[in-house]
Amino acid sequence: MPNDLYGRRKNSAGFEFGHRDSLEKLMANVVKGVPAVQAVPLIPGVSSKGAEVPVQSPSNHAVKVGSVRNATAADVEQAFAVGAKGFRTWSRTPVDARAACLERMADLLEENRDRVLALLAAEAGKTLDDGIAEIREAVDFCRYYAVEARRLFGTATKMPGPTGEDNRYLWRGRGVFACISPWNFPLAIFLGQISAALVAGNAVIAKPAPQTPLIAYEAIRLFHQAGIPEDALLFVPGGPEVGAAIVAHSALAGVAFTGSTRTAWGINRALAAKDGPIVPLIAETGGLNAMIVDATALAEQVADDVVLSAFRSAGQRCSALRLLFLQEDIADNMTTMIEGAARELQLGDPSLVTTDVGPIIDDKQKAMLEAHIADMRETQKVRYSGKAPDGGSFFAPHIVELDSPGALTKEVFGPVLHIVRWKAKDLPSVLADITASGYGLTLGVHSRIEATIRKVTDALDTGNVYVNRNMIGAVVGTQPFGGSGLSGSGFKAGGPAYLQRFAQEQVISINT
Ligand code: SER
Repeated sequence: MPNDLYGRRKNSAGFEFGHRDSLEKLMANVVKGVPAVQAVPLIPGVSSKGAEVPVQSPSNHAVKVGSVRNATAADVEQAFAVGAKGFRTWSRTPVDARAACLERMADLLEENRDRVLALLAAEAGKTLDDGIAEIREAVDFCRYYAVEARRLFGTATKMPGPTGEDNRYLWRGRGVFACISPWNFPLAIFLGQISAALVAGNAVIAKPAPQTPLIAYEAIRLFHQAGIPEDALLFVPGGPEVGAAIVAHSALAGVAFTGSTRTAWGINRALAAKDGPIVPLIAETGGLNAMIVDATALAEQVADDVVLSAFRSAGQRCSALRLLFLQEDIADNMTTMIEGAARELQLGDPSLVTTDVGPIIDDKQKAMLEAHIADMRETQKVRYSGKAPDGGSFFAPHIVELDSPGALTKEVFGPVLHIVRWKAKDLPSVLADITASGYGLTLGVHSRIEATIRKVTDALDTGNVYVNRNMIGAVVGTQPFGGSGLSGSGFKAGGPAYLQRFAQEQVISINT
């Protein structure tokens, strides 16, 4: 199998349906909770006394996929004690050996693909397309960071200096790092954070989102199988109180967090409030992502890209399109086409190959979306409401036409597309509105006028800009991903400046 620059198997995204029957059978079983996964904290020497919580499938509430035993405050304490010991050995393990563990992890993910796919569908409601893309992304993170770690941290750099002095510049891990991850990419983001922290030489306390502990547990077990020492990677599942205990701990050396902007503020405040080491926070948060479409855009392509960007993955991507700016002259036609395309989407059981859009992660998120639409009905024009199936946390795509961009000020995390019309002469005010939101994650532009494309891309600092294409699914090592302002603390996952954030520099000067 050919490998590309980063050693990724080129066809890791490929999927032959030669074994579709056996895959569907496996999916059906895992979605039904057979066998049920029982996740527990993984901390050597600890048998947790935490409460056992059932994990329900978002696509079928009658199904229990498994259960998780959440960590207690005592478990968190123990995780730091064990992690501190693990750090001493792991941080002194040669970079090449650390990177080799990541590469073994990538192989294990590929070998266990079908089971992982089934769990992604059962626990997170991922469709087959989304599950395949997520596994590919997870594999890519492992292989990319392995190559990057060897490049950045492999050997100490000899620095210039006077005769008789030997100056060496090198990188070391920081200590016990917390990786706190979201439910929308329970494998790829979870694993991307952890693999970066580990390969940079840290011990890791991994806290998955409370909605998706099972896939996280399986991933941690694969990491251990891949050779990561059990005392260098601790699995500490739980809710916000577990997160708070981790963040407040005096031995914490760094935090990688992906989730809401509000939670990132909370973490930042908690870190600032305690004495002790200055702890860096790597935060990837939300977006109020816009796409600007002018009258020269190719209508069919726009319709396809908008539906993919706003509704696929049930709109539960931080990169997803939320606010579509349509030039007035084409707005009626475009909206009709988008609505027509949205109507074609198949909603339902994520384990069926025919399903385009799976469920929302849980009823709490669904209630938030319903409340938003109820709100919009009062003041704006709801143009399309799809029909959601029963039995799970389903919420169908919606299209809302806003009277001004100011009618939407916060990220609405789900399949709701908001449309605003603009007049050709008003492009500067569209750009000012996008800037004024304070977010800066993804941006889409559809135009065939080069000057317009340049004007837009010059004016905005958004982290990931996509021109004449969809705006989701950043590829590791090709489209490093992450935003600025309310969208994150900068330096992109899957990019060449990411790993340094997890490490610290050291200079050794020897008088020879
Ligand atoms: N990396 C993901 C994407 O680009 C984030 O949601 O879609």
